[in-house]
Amino acid sequence: MTKCVVVLLSGRGSNFQSLLNASLEGSLGGEISLVVSNRPGAGGLAIAHDAGIETALIDHQRYPTRETFDQDLAGVVDSAQPDLVVLAGFMRILTVDFVERFSRRLMNIHPSLLPLYPGLHTHQRALDNGDTHAGATVHYVTGELDGGPPVLQARVPIHAGDDADTLAARVLEEEHRIYPTAVNWHLTGRLTWHAGDLLRDGGPVPPSGELWEDPS
Ligand code: GRF
Repeated sequence: MTKCVVVLLSGRGSNFQSLLNASLEGSLGGEISLVVSNRPGAGGLAIAHDAGIETALIDHQRYPTRETFDQDLAGVVDSAQPDLVVLAGFMRILTVDFVERFSRRLMNIHPSLLPLYPGLHTHQRALDNGDTHAGATVHYVTGELDGGPPVLQARVPIHAGDDADTLAARVLEEEHRIYPTAVNWHLTGRLTWHAGDLLRDGGPVPPSGELWEDPS
């Protein structure tokens, strides 16, 4: 049976686009059946619409609490019976209830070399610290912000003269490579768990995730 992915996003949707491209090429390991946004103007909704993918808008501003928003969100996501829920620039912190409901089938991409720089403004923080490298990490989501088990990580050099925008652009190119790969690993059963530890192809995944190496 075709594996099913639900994407949650809040913004422009370039990572969603990279997943969609992989799906259309047949390299994702499944299909994206639903895209949910918490923001009416999200560019990702337009991409989904143009691609003929079902969309849902759940505007968090219409909810009195995070809990009620997450309950409705979980109901909509569940209705698609996803094999994987993918956060692609979804700018809401999820409740523990939501995270536990989709435990081990909820992934995020974060624009830093986790465990460095969880949270916001990752590129500026890397620059301010004088780091020589930056990157992005795909990880499973737990109740700890940007703290769940890393799956796959890509590194890029930081160049003299970089600012947060130039660095973000370099990292984003890698995001578009690693997210479809990590999703494929999940959907094709290459990621498994043993006594709480994440394995890929039966072997332990390093603490900061597998290191991305360009196959080309
Ligand atoms: C990406 O940088 C991602 O790492 C972060 O949010 C941004 C989303 O960008 N979580 P896009 O909407 O996928 O273009």
